[in-house]
Order: sequence, then C-alpha cells, then structure tokens
Amino acid sequence: MKVLLIDDQVKMGNAFTKIIKALEHEVSYFNSGYAALALPDEDLFLYDVAFIDMNMEGMDGCETGLKLKARVPSLVTIMLTSDTQMGTVVKALRDSQFDDFLCKRNVAKDALAGSPQLQETVLRAQNILATRKALTNEYKLSSALRNHSVEVQKELVGNSWVIKKLRETIEKVAPLNTTVLITGESGTGKELVAREIYKISNRAHAPFVTVNCDAIPHDLLESELFGQEQPRDYSTDHHRDGFFKMAHGGTLLLDEIGSLPLGLQAKLAKVLREHKIYPVSSSQAIPVDVRIIGITNQDLLKKINEGSFREDLFYQLNVFPICVPPLRERTSDIEELVQHFITIKAQQTTVTSIAPDVLRILRKMSWRGNIRQLENVIEQALIVCAEPKLSCQDFKGNAEFVGLMRGTDHIIEQTNKIEPKKIEENKAYLKLLKRGWSKKDLDRAGFPFHPEIEASYKEMVC
Ligand SMILES: Nc1ncnc2c1ncn2[C@@H]1O[C@H](COP(=O)(O)OP(=O)(O)OP(=O)(O)O)[C@@H](O)[C@H]1O
Ligand SMILES: [Mg+2]
Repeated sequence: MKVLLIDDQVKMGNAFTKIIKALEHEVSYFNSGYAALALPDEDLFLYDVAFIDMNMEGMDGCETGLKLKARVPSLVTIMLTSDTQMGTVVKALRDSQFDDFLCKRNVAKDALAGSPQLQETVLRAQNILATRKALTNEYKLSSALRNHSVEVQKELVGNSWVIKKLRETIEKVAPLNTTVLITGESGTGKELVAREIYKISNRAHAPFVTVNCDAIPHDLLESELFGQEQPRDYSTDHHRDGFFKMAHGGTLLLDEIGSLPLGLQAKLAKVLREHKIYPVSSSQAIPVDVRIIGITNQDLLKKINEGSFREDLFYQLNVFPICVPPLRERTSDIEELVQHFITIKAQQTTVTSIAPDVLRILRKMSWRGNIRQLENVIEQALIVCAEPKLSCQDFKGNAEFVGLMRGTDHIIEQTNKIEPKKIEENKAYLKLLKRGWSKKDLDRAGFPFHPEIEASYKEMVC
C-alpha cells in the first residue's frame, strides 16, 4: 500500500514512518494537513491510506480528513488520536468520515515490539481498501493513473438513429445532478448507458458504486445501503459504511431497482427527499451527496398498479427517464457491434471479419436477449471458426440462425398455426385443378379452398 502520514509532531511522524516501512509499505510523511493537501490530484490519487493526527495546529485532523476524502473519495482514512474518550472518538469518526482510528499512546508503548496495534490497523485498512476496490470503478481510474495506462473501456457502439439519439440524451443529462431512471429489456446495455453517464459527468473522478438490489439478501440490504450505527467490535473488520456513504460525492447505481422491497422503497424515497441517510439502529441522519441512477427491466407502472412499487419513489427516480431500445429496433448497428466484439477478442482469435451473408441472417434474428445474446453468439462462432472470416458454417450451433439460413423458420412457424384439415382440403382442390377441373366447377361441386393459407402451404410442399 502507499501510505500518507500526517502528524505535526515530527518525532511521532518519524517513529510511525519507521514501523510502516518495516511492514513493507511505502510511506510519505507530512507535518501538516496543508502540506499534504498541497499535493496535486494526480499525486494524491496514488495513495491508498492516510493516517491523520487529530490534534494539529491550524487545520486539525477532522478538517484534513474531510478535505482529503473530498478529493480522493476512495482513500482509507485512519484517525490518529491521543484521546481515549470513546465518545469523542466515535463523534470524530462519524462526522469526519474516518474509516478507523488508532490510539497513538499504544503505538508509542509497543514501538519496540513493532507495534502490533499499528500492524492490525494496517491490515484492516488493507481489507477496507480491497472491498472498496471491488466495489468502485474509481479503482480502475486510480490504477490506470498508477500504471500510466488507460484500460480498454467498454463503449457504446452503434450509429443507428436510435443510438445517436441515446448518445445525445446521455450528453445532455450527464453534467446535471439529476436522478436518472434507465429502463429497457434485458441485455440492451442499460448498465453501459449508466457508466457512460458517469464517465462524462462532473463526478467522473468520484466513486461509482454499483448495487444490484436483487443480488443482496433483502434482510441485509438496508444496512448495506445505509450503513450500520456503529462498529460492533473495533478489533475486527467492522467496516459497514453502506453504499450511500461510499458513494458520497459520486454516483450510486441501483440496478434492478424494481426488486427493492416496499419497506426499503419508503426509506429510499426519504433519502432522495432529504439527501440524508439513517444508518440502521441510528436516529442520527448523515448528509450525503450522491447522484442516483436507477436501472430496471421491469414495468414499474404496472408494479405501481399491483401495489408492489411506491408511486412517490417512481416519480423521484423518473426525473430523467432513459429507455434503451432493443436490438431488433436497431439492426443497422449489428455489423458495427459484431466488428466490435471481434476486435475485443482479437487476442484470442485470428478472425478479423464476417461474411456478408452471415450479417444478412444476423439482422433477421429476433434477439430476445439483445446485445448480450449477440455478444455470446459471436463469441461461440469465434471459438469454432478456423478461418480469418466468420461464415455461416460457424453458426451451425444456433437453431434460429440455421432456421433462417434454410429459409424455413417462418414457414414452419406459420404452418404450425394452420389446421391440418384445411391443408388436406387445399391439397385435394389443387390436385383436381391439375387434372383439368376448372375453379368454377370445383366451387360448384363444393370443394373448399382456403386462399389465406395457400402461400404457406405452397412453400411447405416445395
Ligand atoms: N451499444 C453497445 N455497444 C457495445 N456493447 C454493448 C452495447 N450495449 C450493450 N453492450 C454489451 O452487452 C452486454 C450487456 O450490456 P448491459 O449489462 O449493460 O445490459 P443490461 O441492459 O444492463 O442487461 P440486464 O438487464 O440483463 O442486466 C455487456 O457486455 C455490454 O458491454
Ligand atoms: Mg444490467
């Protein structure tokens, strides 16, 4: 880890530096909050953890911690205190969003023994950091800064009219702090749209926390979202800030928001109204500055009618609605998307292009699973393809593709709907026509004929 150490007592600072270095972490020491905050953003982003002394002349630890967090929200902040009064410590932890604290006296006492207390705190900081990294996109940003390489970002591909409109909408809403509700069928790219909004928003350097409301057990969801009152036990990894607090200053993506239980819907509506969260078993509100993006593939209006979604929450979320269109409404994007997926897999395949007849069939497919399905279909074809160009042969494992390739898919579908009796009657009628009967004679003799099924029948017998 890269550690920032801020303490106005130089002696203390040097002692801490020695111990942290002995634990094989990099450490930079500053003797005031002002000095640390003078670092430019790109340097501050390099740090994982900050140990900050509480009682410093001028800018104290609380102010320094808050200012650092505002610039680098992912930074794990540890309060260094000589105060053993639990009340003061908890208040400072809460008000200044410190992640943990360490009593300086204990460290000084055990300095010769390598300070087990400090070692424990460093371990806890590592755990917090690991959780945060897994949860926020900011990790990607900071590691990209560290490695001076920008990772290949997923991008919104497509040039159809609907995608152009979608891009315009994203550009319009991104700089605002407005709550956005993204709807659309499964696999259409709703999450990708949310990430695009985040990437070009003013909060792009702040955390992007994503929560799948359906993936977290409902009885845990409240504390996961809003945090829990106070650490149960300081000696274990008790970190329970909640996603809202983690996303403070940034963006919180609530995926599958339609699955939120009714009780939590009421609490979320309150948070959106008041911009404050109430951690579990606490009556004290904590102000939060979070932009919310909700995602759902459920029909929320229908859910409101059924009584399973709150109307007030719906209107609070639906401030700026975005509907991501299904792939079947933008088939002109298929070629570009396929090329994009081939490029992404460039390292695992020698394929570089796709045959035009394949594209013709892909454009006719129904794509109920939308772009995710297209991505999977292309990936499977790339696995079997031995040539530089994808051909129809490589899609043999896909029933819908094969059906369309043989041109029988729609005929089978239609003929399945025709009553067999009508088919037999038409067969007899046509046979007699071939034998020289006229239509007039056949009609007069009462032979039934069903012109509405003739086309399908003809194709079927071909
Ligand atoms: N326009 C696009 N350009 C490139 N890739 C896309 C596009 N839209 C979606 N994808 C890709 O398709 C996959 C599905 O997208 P995403 O997860 O955003 O869909 P979703 O609508 O959130 O789906 P679900 O409702 O199932 O969660 C992802 O791998 C995403 O990168
Ligand atoms: Mg999704």
